Amino acid sequence: MRAALLSILLSILLFSDLFPFSELSEARTGTRELASTPPRGWNSYDSFSWVIDEQAFLNNAAIVAKKLLPYGYEYVVVDYLWYRNNTEGASNQDAIGFDNIDRWGRPIPDPERWPSSEGGRGFKEVAQKVHDMGLKFGIHVMRGISAQAVNANTPILDVLKGGAYVEDGRRKHAVDVGMTDTSCAWLKGFMSVNTDSGAGEAFLRSLYHQYAEWGVDFVKLDCVFGDDMSSREIITVSKLLKELDRPVVFSLSPGSHASPSMAAAIVNYVNMYRVTGDDWDTWEDVAAHFDVARDFAAAKMIGAQGLNGRSWPDLDMLPLGWLTDPGVRQGPHRKCKLTQDEQKTQMTLWAMVKSPLMFGGDLRNIDRTTFGLITNRKLLDINSHSENNMEFPHVTARKNIRRASRVYTWNAARVEKLYTSNNDGMGLTSCSNENAKGWFISHEGEKNQMCWEHRLKSNNISCLYKRRSMSTLSEEIAYKQEHQGKFQLLLAETKDTCLDASVNRKRTASENTFLSTCKWNANQMWELNDDGTLLSSYSGLCATVERKNSNSPNVIHGVRSWVATGRRGEIYLAFFNLESERARISADIGDLEKSLGRRFTGTGSCNCSEVWTGTHLGIVDGTLSTLVEPHGCSLFVLNCES
Ligand SMILES: *[C@@H]1O[C@H](CO)[C@@H](O)[C@H](O)[C@H]1NC(C)=O
Ligand SMILES: *[C@@H]1O[C@H](CO)[C@@H](O)[C@H](O)[C@H]1NC(C)=O
Ligand SMILES: *[C@@H]1O[C@H](CO)[C@@H](O)[C@H](O)[C@H]1NC(C)=O
Repeated sequence: MRAALLSILLSILLFSDLFPFSELSEARTGTRELASTPPRGWNSYDSFSWVIDEQAFLNNAAIVAKKLLPYGYEYVVVDYLWYRNNTEGASNQDAIGFDNIDRWGRPIPDPERWPSSEGGRGFKEVAQKVHDMGLKFGIHVMRGISAQAVNANTPILDVLKGGAYVEDGRRKHAVDVGMTDTSCAWLKGFMSVNTDSGAGEAFLRSLYHQYAEWGVDFVKLDCVFGDDMSSREIITVSKLLKELDRPVVFSLSPGSHASPSMAAAIVNYVNMYRVTGDDWDTWEDVAAHFDVARDFAAAKMIGAQGLNGRSWPDLDMLPLGWLTDPGVRQGPHRKCKLTQDEQKTQMTLWAMVKSPLMFGGDLRNIDRTTFGLITNRKLLDINSHSENNMEFPHVTARKNIRRASRVYTWNAARVEKLYTSNNDGMGLTSCSNENAKGWFISHEGEKNQMCWEHRLKSNNISCLYKRRSMSTLSEEIAYKQEHQGKFQLLLAETKDTCLDASVNRKRTASENTFLSTCKWNANQMWELNDDGTLLSSYSGLCATVERKNSNSPNVIHGVRSWVATGRRGEIYLAFFNLESERARISADIGDLEKSLGRRFTGTGSCNCSEVWTGTHLGIVDGTLSTLVEPHGCSLFVLNCES
């Protein structure tokens, strides 16, 4: 009897260990696991910036339903500032006063661009139409609360009890919850709310309940992750989404300088999260994803447990086809600037990493090549169903230079060492990361400097200067009193350039700067902890100095390779050439066996085809070798007898 009970208990334990979330959640809620494969869909940002209107959105949705839904693209997402009036003076920058809010301080769609929203209907009709097409509806939202609501000091709606939210016998308002000191660094019209207060949580609840009432199935929350980390808001929103009757996919954006250690605190609360700044159609942006994707794969974060299902590192939308430009107030007007090879590289990497696939081009104007690229069955199958996805560091390459005297070789694992630069790069990471420790105050001479000791280069120290202000402005004095023990850090004594945790413009994936003109705000305030970490007042992350050649998104050299396995035992192997010259890339089948922990009966037992060309390739002397175009890739499917 006892033994039987024990074995049942044991099997429950084992079972839940093997299937950490899916089976249990289905048993409990009777619903399907959320984001069980990487979500797929269309997003308006790359082709419309923020100026999309109802007609253009529904036209695109209709094309998604007709042409892309059969390939699993099911979410259609309105990107940012749908509540902002598109009039003179309004912009995607720090324009305050152009947003439509309801009497409870909640954003509502711009009635000119979204006519069906009139009369307090919000996105109800749009969502209904999207659902009728067989699709799911998503919206982008900013962190916290708008400056406009705080300026108007709107009351907070208590959605649980109805009416105004009351605490300690007093009605709470926007100024009680808005934290003016933590405005989003790159979009000042929005600030964090105090999630520690009941009123702050009530305000956020009033937002998400409203979105659910509209019929929203997907929320992309911006300016809470990466440099703009606000894990409290992420976790609070996740909890609020769990309260809702409808399943809502929870997505975070952007993820400038995100690392697995930074993400660890929030991955289980979301379904997808960006791991870089914005990806646009430049080679530098595409290439900036290789190292960070490798790190998240190695940390086993691809398909980890997430909110009501799974979570996925997100490499950002696919800016292919007919696009607009970043930061403009203009709709689609130009073609993608990536070469065909670069586009294939992007699609192949996004597939091998199992990134969510959100197409960004205007579908009313999609060309056959782009359509073929984003609907390639093999790539989509890899994206949804492959396993063991990881970088395969054992490839070697020979640059195929015509001037034969300059043939040289390198190895992907050793690219770091060959990339010689003395420049060290700033980074942000979780304060518990050992790599964040090493800051100390140096009182050498007259100077009061904040220094970093490089562990990898003995006796090498980099210093910043503490800013001393001679100003007697009362505003500044008040600010400094409020931030006792915190300070600004200057790049050089004579320059008015300060270390800035998040700069005032949205970063692209390949940008990596942490310096701005000095000004008094939370992104420039730092504090030295006893354990030698340097804490940012803005994000709660800590500064680290990394070798530019290890973690910097600026490294776009050498070759890379990724491996994954398929549902029928097949092996996927991708070669990427990040150089601007053709290269012959080779992999040893023996290394592949070791990486996958499999043994083949002999290298002659493998057959191999390349996906993009459809050609079959022989394996000679246990080596798979092929020429890869500049910025291009090859993707092999190997079937080997084990
Ligand atoms: C936005 O435009 C609408 C009319 O199109 C107007 O009623 C509303 O007051 C405007 N809102 C703001 C914040 O300018
Ligand atoms: C220290 O750093 C400087 C500049 O980055 C470099 O020139 C020098 O070689 C380094 N010294 C050591 C010991 O690594
Ligand atoms: C490749 O190998 C698989 C499995 O071993 C086999 O089913 C298939 O027929 C082979 N294809 C070719 C073209 O040899």
